[in-house]
Amino acid sequence: MLRLVLATGNRGKAIEIREKLKKYPLIIESLQDYPQIPEIEENGKTFLDNSVLKASIVSRYTNLPALADDSGLEIDYLKGLPGLYSSRWGKDDRDRVARVLKELEGITEEQRKARFVCVMSMVVPGNKVYTEQGVCSGKITFSPQGKYGFGYDPIFIPDGYDQTFAQMGKKIKNKISHRAIALDKIIPRIIAYFQL
Ligand code: IMP
Repeated sequence: MLRLVLATGNRGKAIEIREKLKKYPLIIESLQDYPQIPEIEENGKTFLDNSVLKASIVSRYTNLPALADDSGLEIDYLKGLPGLYSSRWGKDDRDRVARVLKELEGITEEQRKARFVCVMSMVVPGNKVYTEQGVCSGKITFSPQGKYGFGYDPIFIPDGYDQTFAQMGKKIKNKISHRAIALDKIIPRIIAYFQL
């Protein structure tokens, strides 16, 4: 069977990516299957840099096609932060959510515009790179709501909805999120590469 390695250690991301790819005849491996791969320092200046970096290192180590996601939350009032630093904005998800809410204290609903961005890259042996971006616009809530998902899901309401990602659950999120959009664009390239 054909193999694709997910170049992410983030469980929440991996669950969403696997869900989208489950209908294809592929064995989806993860970094846990390759403990010899060292921790990758995400020192790029853009989501694109980091996603290509992760996918190319993992593809080189495994000699297999690797798929990486680099993503983050851009908040207008914070001039695009946490952005590239989304995973390092606090010690855990709870702490990161609390920090965003604190920095937006006293800020009106109209000023709470934000977007999730995801750049998905597949690097295949020989170092050919395929890359696609997905954006999901919305706003930051005043308090955390909902129990599904991961990361900033409890404080993000996508445009056109009145529930957070964490309230709506994976079925809807996996149709409309930044990651879903990027995956919907890159899946045809995965299908073409593996000739599925
Ligand atoms: P990185 O791409 O591993 O650098 O980290 C992305 C970070 O952005 C995650 O650790 C989350 O904090 C946040 N993030 C990305 N996508 C989502 C999402 O779908 N929901 C909630 N938080 C997300």
